[in-house]
Amino acid sequence: MSKVFFGDSRDLLSKIKPLSVDVTITSPPYFDMKDYGYPNQIGYGQDYNTYLNDIKKVFKNVYEVTKDTGSLWVIIDTFRRDGEVIPLPFDFAKQASEIGWKLQDIIIWKKDKTAPWSRKGVTKKIFEYILFFSKSPNFKYFSDRVREVKYLKEWWIRYPERYSPNGKSLEEIWEFSIPVQGAWGNSYIRHFCPLPEDLVRQIILLTTDEGDVVFDPFSGSGTVPAQAAFMKRKYYGFELNKNYIEMFNTYLNDNLEKKLVAYNTAKLSLEQTSFRNKIIGLRILKYIRVLSNNLKINGINILKIYAEQTNQKLTHRHDVASARYIMLCERQHLENEIVDDIKKMIKIRPLSGFGIKAEFVFIYDYNDFVKLLFDKKNIFSYSMNNTHQYISKLTKEDQIDKGFIFSSIELNINEELYKGLK
Ligand SMILES: C[S@@+](CC[C@H](N)C(=O)[O-])C[C@H]1O[C@@H](n2cnc3c(N)ncnc32)[C@H](O)[C@@H]1O
Repeated sequence: MSKVFFGDSRDLLSKIKPLSVDVTITSPPYFDMKDYGYPNQIGYGQDYNTYLNDIKKVFKNVYEVTKDTGSLWVIIDTFRRDGEVIPLPFDFAKQASEIGWKLQDIIIWKKDKTAPWSRKGVTKKIFEYILFFSKSPNFKYFSDRVREVKYLKEWWIRYPERYSPNGKSLEEIWEFSIPVQGAWGNSYIRHFCPLPEDLVRQIILLTTDEGDVVFDPFSGSGTVPAQAAFMKRKYYGFELNKNYIEMFNTYLNDNLEKKLVAYNTAKLSLEQTSFRNKIIGLRILKYIRVLSNNLKINGINILKIYAEQTNQKLTHRHDVASARYIMLCERQHLENEIVDDIKKMIKIRPLSGFGIKAEFVFIYDYNDFVKLLFDKKNIFSYSMNNTHQYISKLTKEDQIDKGFIFSSIELNINEELYKGLK
């Protein structure tokens, strides 16, 4: 399997089995604007109703070949005709719902290149619609895989417990620039309207697993099947222009191996890994800071704390990490007394919301505490009210005085750098 068929997607049932496709990602041919260069094509030379009916035929067949857990993503735009806007995305959505597709979301694809002109009644066009349909309510959707980590406000530094270590949930406006050429790159021929690779990648991540089947009934330059192959998915495509298919096959042959290597190494982007580690580190350190403040209110004074991340099995759904806290306590507070208070405190907000599975150890001898710190390598000291930027890396015993929390977790986040980011 995995093939782009040379043929008319109105006949797709002749090649693709019912209930075999996981996701369809496509941009249908434009209405009466582009001549792709063959007879009987959808769009060019047709009247609007015939065009809509032809499109409907294709998406009815797509519905038949889609699994119950599958989805459909259509990138589509309005256009102007005879002095008015024709709302194609909305006309299309109505037809799709008549077929049985359930509209789940309308996403705006914001392109960075805009036509450098505007005229009376027409603003600059900078977006297209992405319509997202499912076949049933139990469609596949993995939102955690596509969170954004770049544009978080600086808030995450002081409130790490409010931010998922995976980043911010996807918003309904997606920004991707229009590629200058199709999937084949410079050395291959150009296509009129290739989709951005990253946009396709995002949808594939969001709605499929490795081995799933991705389909594009209007493959064009082959961005959708190519990305599917690069991400270890199977694919089907249909295209009426033989040249495009030949180009796509050559491109795939030349690039598959290296793209698969890249996919395997970049599964979790570096950026995401480091953001995740930061959020987890921030949470572990803030957790003990909040806890010791609460204990103080109850009359229990913790003198110093050592905190480290551990590898315990996480048992609660919202847990993100496990940690061990070694607390240097005043002799008058018995361990039982402290443990009782801690048990109560960690069951309720804010501590219950940190997702930290914590283990506590109590020591009463300052020298034991110092020995413990210097037995470890790379210890950083933090103050009582800032656990996102360390005071110093511990090298001499006299530095212990200044710190309150000590940890192998290294956080040196300059809040100023994140100010003003939305
Ligand atoms: C808007 S383009 C798709 C671009 C594509 N998403 C990409 O990334 O390159 C539409 C494509 O549909 C093809 N097409 C038009 N009518 C078709 C039909 N009935 N069956 C299959 N392909 C068709 C055109 O040749 C054109 O390449």
